[in-house]
Amino acid sequence: MTAAVSKNLKDMTFEDFCRTVFDTTKRFEKPETLKGVRVVSTTQYILGPSCACYLAELGAETIKVELPKRGEPMRHTTPFNEPFLYPLSRWMPDKGTGLGFFGANANEYFLSLDFHKPEAIQIMKRLAAKTDVFCENYRAGTFDRWGIGYRQHAQVNPRTIYQWMGGFGGWGPGRNRASYDILGQAQGGCFSITGWHKEYGGMPSKQTIWIMDYWGGAISAFNIIACLYWRDNVSNKGNFLEYSQVHGAQRHLTDFISLYGKTGVVAQRFGNWEPLLCVHGILKCGKSSYPNSKNPQEQEVGFCFVSAYKDEDFVNLCNLINRPDLAKKYPTHSDRVGADAQSAIYPELEKWAADKTKEQAWEEFKKAGLVSQPVWNSKEVSAQEHYHLRGSLAWIDDPTFGDVQTQVLPALMSETPPRVRWVFKPVGADNEYVLAKLCGYSGSHIAELEQKEII
Ligand SMILES: CC(C)(COP(=O)(O)OP(=O)(O)OC[C@H]1O[C@@H](n2cnc3c(N)ncnc32)[C@H](O)[C@@H]1OP(=O)(O)O)[C@@H](O)C(=O)NCCC(=O)NCCS
Repeated sequence: MTAAVSKNLKDMTFEDFCRTVFDTTKRFEKPETLKGVRVVSTTQYILGPSCACYLAELGAETIKVELPKRGEPMRHTTPFNEPFLYPLSRWMPDKGTGLGFFGANANEYFLSLDFHKPEAIQIMKRLAAKTDVFCENYRAGTFDRWGIGYRQHAQVNPRTIYQWMGGFGGWGPGRNRASYDILGQAQGGCFSITGWHKEYGGMPSKQTIWIMDYWGGAISAFNIIACLYWRDNVSNKGNFLEYSQVHGAQRHLTDFISLYGKTGVVAQRFGNWEPLLCVHGILKCGKSSYPNSKNPQEQEVGFCFVSAYKDEDFVNLCNLINRPDLAKKYPTHSDRVGADAQSAIYPELEKWAADKTKEQAWEEFKKAGLVSQPVWNSKEVSAQEHYHLRGSLAWIDDPTFGDVQTQVLPALMSETPPRVRWVFKPVGADNEYVLAKLCGYSGSHIAELEQKEII
């Protein structure tokens, strides 16, 4: 498909058109959006790594720099870090890389440098001269102190786009505090509105996935791409970018901030129901889908989402559960969205679902024309043809680790699709490749750097 859409594509149904232009089996035959952009990523945990990973999945040549031998903390802080699964580095054969490293380090080249050594700082400056984007997520000012922060980079390369991701930002009362995803969500107000209300035995609850880190990584990648556009098309200038976890999380309080600002009302936790829409929540279905499973979690009852906040859908739902009286009692959305109404409606829905599995409830909802979806676990997700057909979940033949099931950026592009070439590599796996290519070092020079523990 070039500038004009070809005749055979024009004549297709929209479904066939999508299937053809997004054909994920052809991913590797197509060009990459960010090919030619070089990124140096000195990142740790998830926030910074996910930013660099998104750019790498879009085709940027991304070099991850880590502490020699051991690598960054995420390799150690999560379980399953067994050497026979995913080896850590050739210098520490008895150690492995933990599962938390997955999903945030794909397609990267792995270089190790000890920033406490002057030669490593010199190497970073050489890399800065040849790099478009630099990203890191250490404490405020750590890289500045090491002599490789934005100001030092910009002296070597004024076109550098330097993305610093931190907890609280580089100035203001919190600037020296350490931060993690969970702290960002706590300070940003997210947990206060997640989980069941006290009356239902609940408490503020965290998200199990590190959603604010992955979101912060995506926003940072998005801003970097905007700055590349501005540099290359408008100004020829670099940029210093700051992203902070607590502001990123607070941005997600969306309407709750406006609600408080205008009315003084502090939003409450509402569990699996939705404060602004009813019915639009998750129901407990009383029967397990896998009563004979050896996994105790699967023996539990199931859950199913259903949406019927539109008046006509609510009538259908009430008829389905044989309670037309509820539709008469709560005829409009404003009649049923209040807390008292929701507290009365959901238990009636769950009484109906008490003798059903989540799949049985789903079937009934579908027949009634309602939008619904059982709550799935990772095994059920992995089994879904939909994800595999569309390539967002894939088994790849990883050059280092063999068969690996992994995710890919959930974006399809007809001309320049993102892709995963490898999931990650051991610490320092590309030392020779990067230092020879970008610094022009010989094999003996690299061996000497290794012997001095600079790399
Ligand atoms: C994650 C966090 C709490 C870790 O804090 P920390 O380890 O105390 O401080 P920094 O991140 O600045 O790391 C500096 C230390 O890393 C070590 N280090 C890591 N990589 C290194 C390298 N390649 N070479 C040398 N030292 C290295 C050193 O010990 C260094 O401290 P030093 O110079 O005083 O010896 C902090 O970086 C932070 O708040 N980051 C912003 C928020 C964030 O991204 N959190 C993680 C995502 S949830």
